[in-house]
Amino acid sequence: MTTGEKTVETGGEHDVRKFRNALGWFTTGVAVITTRVGGEAPIGITVNSFSSVSLDPPLVLWCLDKKSDTLDVFERATHFTVNVLREEHQDVSSRLARKGDHSLAGMDVREGESGCPALVQALAHFECEVEARHDAGDHVIMVGRVVKFDYVEEGRPLLYHRGAYQILPPVI
Ligand SMILES: Cc1cc2nc3c(=O)[nH]c(=O)nc-3n(C[C@H](O)[C@H](O)[C@H](O)COP(=O)(O)O)c2cc1C
Repeated sequence: MTTGEKTVETGGEHDVRKFRNALGWFTTGVAVITTRVGGEAPIGITVNSFSSVSLDPPLVLWCLDKKSDTLDVFERATHFTVNVLREEHQDVSSRLARKGDHSLAGMDVREGESGCPALVQALAHFECEVEARHDAGDHVIMVGRVVKFDYVEEGRPLLYHRGAYQILPPVI
């Protein structure tokens, strides 16, 4: 390293805290995954594990903690919608990251074609059919086939960096 910055030595695969710290350098956006199963109330969960996978066919993924209270719902869901959050969505993100509170009550939502709710103000929506679920350690990889998407032409995303929300600096 030529910058003179200190490097934290790795503590091996079982050093979870350091592993998380290292992962935290990979800055991400923040999304809310919404779904509705049958006549049950719709739910949403905040994630930063969203990623594109394939352009043709259009596939995306996100990872769900097996300990999440929402696991049972996402195991039964046939569809989900990825809502990409804007910088004004910090409260929404924090609320849907709280244990035991995944209700969308009071939020500005509309029903998508798949029946899943969509956050009206999101920068982009990806309505997905569940393509696959892959067991992966303490998470389940949820793969979705995008059946419909839309996006705004202008807006600023909410970012997640080293365990905290961030926003893009103004464009000079
Ligand atoms: C910025 C951010 C990103 C998150 N990313 C994920 C994720 O990718 N996968 C996941 O399962 N949980 C993720 N979480 C935690 C979930 O939001 C989860 O709802 C929270 O741990 C509450 O637990 P519960 O799902 O058991 O109610 C994230 C939380 C925050 C604040």
